[in-house]
Amino acid sequence: MREAPERIQRLPEQYFTALLARVAAAAAEEGDRLVDLGRGNPEVGPPEHVIEALSESAARPDVHGYAPFAGLPALKDAIAQRYGEVYDVDIDPAREVAVLPGTKTGLMEFALSAVERGGTIVLPDPGYPDYFSAVALAGAQSVSFDGFDVAADALYLNYPSNPTAATVPEGLFEEAVRWAQRNEAWILHDFAYGDLVFHGRRPQSFLAVEGARDVGIELFSMSKSYGMAGWRLGFALGNQELVRRIEVLQDHTFAGIFRPIQEAGIAALTGPQDSVEERRATYEHRRDRALAALAGLDARSQGTFFVWFRLPDDVTVERLLTEQRVAVAPGEGFGARGAGWARLSLAVTDETLELGLKRLARLGAG
Ligand SMILES: Cc1ncc(COP(=O)(O)O)c(C=O)c1O
Repeated sequence: MREAPERIQRLPEQYFTALLARVAAAAAEEGDRLVDLGRGNPEVGPPEHVIEALSESAARPDVHGYAPFAGLPALKDAIAQRYGEVYDVDIDPAREVAVLPGTKTGLMEFALSAVERGGTIVLPDPGYPDYFSAVALAGAQSVSFDGFDVAADALYLNYPSNPTAATVPEGLFEEAVRWAQRNEAWILHDFAYGDLVFHGRRPQSFLAVEGARDVGIELFSMSKSYGMAGWRLGFALGNQELVRRIEVLQDHTFAGIFRPIQEAGIAALTGPQDSVEERRATYEHRRDRALAALAGLDARSQGTFFVWFRLPDDVTVERLLTEQRVAVAPGEGFGARGAGWARLSLAVTDETLELGLKRLARLGAG
């Protein structure tokens, strides 16, 4: 076999690909039904009117060619309008929005367009594993976030957080903006779970903070708010210079997004929003069930569709998988500080969750 270029070799093992393979192998072994609480894949799709918008659009003869590379202006208008209504943030749709084929792509594009090779990027630890991939792809180096007394070229933030399910601490966005100004650094705020917050909290956009758009962008994903993970649609919003660089990069690497998907995205963003609240309320209810079942453990969740919990000393994720036949995501995959913790997903049916919790409840009782 020929040796791959160094930039491919640098990429870490993709955490979720490896996790899925491990869970599939365990499921194939003999034993009780395996309960998979390891993945973060929305279990309910978008509302009916969004599906209808997709099929009506796809039935038209004039939508099958290349769509405009930078996305439909009406889609940019739609997300800007939602930012105004839901997050109280004014967005210039023409200059402050890039349309992305899912925000995972944006995580990579930000690193490539904000940081020089050899630069330093601060990452949350524990944090979403693809941030490490972005750093590797950009030929940069990462350091774990440990407060704002650090010199670096960029910072990834993510609230509500995957995997810790924490919402943003008071004043942190403001401090991050001051840090970026001092260091002439860029910030990416990953808002993938923005609408999924509990305890009556309001979603908090990074861009609502003064000065934020001078130093960074926010990624908004259609995957979690609207159950459209497989559709691959998201946005980078905020700093005009970064938005422009991302669009330039996409002009060279993508040729737009299938127009019916964009039109269905407009329907999702501008149509009835009850499904967003229903989804949020469902996860909050399931979170309450999970925290009650794990009562003896340190288990946390203020948002997202995850619960982050500390494993008892003698328990590992591998043992949960083989002995209890419950899959959860091992904390160390999210960074060194995740060791000894695990992430449980609420994005499953109530029946699956109850079965998994029944098995996990034995841990808390011990
Ligand atoms: C924290 C976080 N960021 C980004 C993504 C990517 O979302 P998408 O590419 O579907 O927009 C995910 C998906 O699970 C996520 O958990």
